[in-house]
Amino acid sequence: MKANRVARRNRRRLLQVAGAITATSLLNGLPFALRAASAAQHKTKIGIIGSGKVGGAIGSVWVKAGHEVMFSSRHIEHDKELAAKLGANARAGTPREAAEFGKVVMISVPYHALPDVRDNVGDLIKGKVVIDTCNPFVWRDGELATWAREKGAGLASLELLPGARIVRAFNAIGYVSMGNAHKQPGRVGMPIASDDAGAIQIASPLIRDIGYEPVLVGGMEMGKYLMPGTPLAGERTPDEIREIVATLN
Ligand SMILES: NC(=O)c1ccc[n+]([C@@H]2O[C@H](COP(=O)([O-])OP(=O)(O)OC[C@H]3O[C@@H](n4cnc5c(N)ncnc54)[C@H](OP(=O)(O)O)[C@@H]3O)[C@@H](O)[C@H]2O)c1
Repeated sequence: MKANRVARRNRRRLLQVAGAITATSLLNGLPFALRAASAAQHKTKIGIIGSGKVGGAIGSVWVKAGHEVMFSSRHIEHDKELAAKLGANARAGTPREAAEFGKVVMISVPYHALPDVRDNVGDLIKGKVVIDTCNPFVWRDGELATWAREKGAGLASLELLPGARIVRAFNAIGYVSMGNAHKQPGRVGMPIASDDAGAIQIASPLIRDIGYEPVLVGGMEMGKYLMPGTPLAGERTPDEIREIVATLN
């Protein structure tokens, strides 16, 4: 009974947040320069762990939108080069430095690296908003991916990164388009999943700043649909995403 009450309360909170997301989507009509000015008003320090295709693409547009970004990986020379190209709002550090630096931390590593990331920065990301772009693939991530796919990627990430306030996002859109979404703001929806209403409120403007309209599909148990190969994968309008979500479950 208590579990039902908690589930109902969580659902109510998520619905309230979904309403707030819709209300603020008016910003989407603005060109990038104006949106960047708007982003500057909520300028956020973002630490990125995993500065490859996804981390590099999204981090670069966040920098251009006026946020302060620290890139990190296991190869700091690569991160320094990336940051140097982007200017004063970008810097490079170790994963621990990035986890400490970010009010928001985005983790964008191969799924099999999540236990290593947890061992390295787990103490620093407890209580922080963490955007999880990571997808489990058996061909790349082995047994961990088999386990994560059975459990569902969202619930698996929660277990792998205990205490982090995870928002799953940027999971099922190719990295090549991630740097271009701001050219047509709001055209493409970004399905997101999280159990944490406060984290959704912090992550949503950051997603919007780079041109995507966040669409909350539900709690972390819905994270299993934020993966390539699911009905939600690929570029879709916010309304299309809502229609597809209504057919799930
Ligand atoms: N590619 C896409 O279009 C796409 C789209 C959506 C989601 N995703 C998912 O997002 C995640 C990242 O994908 P990607 O394509 O960006 O991969 P990627 O290009 O291979 O980049 C992975 C990054 O993680 C770093 N890394 C690996 N192990 C690490 C560790 N133990 N600690 C810290 N950093 C580590 C790598 O650098 P070092 O090896 O130098 O440490 C690299 O910077 C994956 O889970 C992927 O499935 C990918």
